[in-house]
Amino acid sequence: MASPARPVALITGASSGIGATFARHLAARGFDLILVARRTEKLQALASELPVHSDLVTADLATDDGVAKVVEVIHNCPHLELLVNNAGFGSLGRFWLADPASQEAMHRVHVLATVRLTHAALAAMTARNKGGVINVSSVAAFSINEGNVSYCATKAWMNSFTEGLALELRGAQSAVKVQALCPGFTITEFHDTLGVDRKGIPGFLWMTADFIVQTSLKGLDKGKVIVVPGWIYRTIVTFLRPLPYSIRRHLRRPFRDRRV
Ligand SMILES: NC(=O)c1ccc[n+]([C@@H]2O[C@H](COP(=O)([O-])OP(=O)(O)OC[C@H]3O[C@@H](n4cnc5c(N)ncnc54)[C@H](OP(=O)(O)O)[C@@H]3O)[C@@H](O)[C@H]2O)c1
Repeated sequence: MASPARPVALITGASSGIGATFARHLAARGFDLILVARRTEKLQALASELPVHSDLVTADLATDDGVAKVVEVIHNCPHLELLVNNAGFGSLGRFWLADPASQEAMHRVHVLATVRLTHAALAAMTARNKGGVINVSSVAAFSINEGNVSYCATKAWMNSFTEGLALELRGAQSAVKVQALCPGFTITEFHDTLGVDRKGIPGFLWMTADFIVQTSLKGLDKGKVIVVPGWIYRTIVTFLRPLPYSIRRHLRRPFRDRRV
């Protein structure tokens, strides 16, 4: 059982990559953990290496039942101080040719699960005037790409949702913090799952999950709402952000029919 004296963090998509890295860094900061993903054995392996108490929740966040299970866990966790909505995946191919079920699953995981879990967490956090939510978005939130439409759209939604919440929390003079974390290319299982060869992307664009998580947690300490790790990506985003669609559409990544 989690110690009542210790803060608790719930991380979705904790079975690999950025989520597992959040677990390691938050354990080092003294958090007990609730780790959520579909691959129970990966969660068990992670929990066995961590020096803190971890509860494991096997849930598919693309399903109503999976999300409801995690909402219930949040309702039963009075010491939840941090929610990390990190679970996610990419897709390739033109929208109308892509598998509709996987497109819908992406919206369910990135959008619906984030809405439901954040609502459950903020109800208690705002009442206690303490806590935070990190939504793991992407630099794709600032761009539009052929072959990647739902991914860019759902991540753009995450940024807008987070900025809106930050405004409401500030308006309510709440101490609860929210952050949209916007990584660029990060070495995790993400591109393996997608079938993309990392060699097709220049080496200087890759970052480690450790760097992403350190930057996020430093940003959370300072109350930063949009966190873009790495100066290269911050520069790209600074130029992209104010541009109208009529210009941004000419800066898109060219569509590739085959997986690189
Ligand atoms: N890697 C990058 O270059 C990059 C860049 C920008 C943003 N991101 C974002 O970072 C987040 C984490 O990705 P990652 O890079 O760490 O990739 P990853 O290693 O593939 O991790 C993805 C995590 O999401 C979980 N997940 C996927 N679908 C799920 C579902 N239906 N229900 C529950 N859990 C699910 C996976 O767990 P199970 O398979 O065990 O369920 C896994 O733990 C994602 O939101 C991604 O969009 C990644």
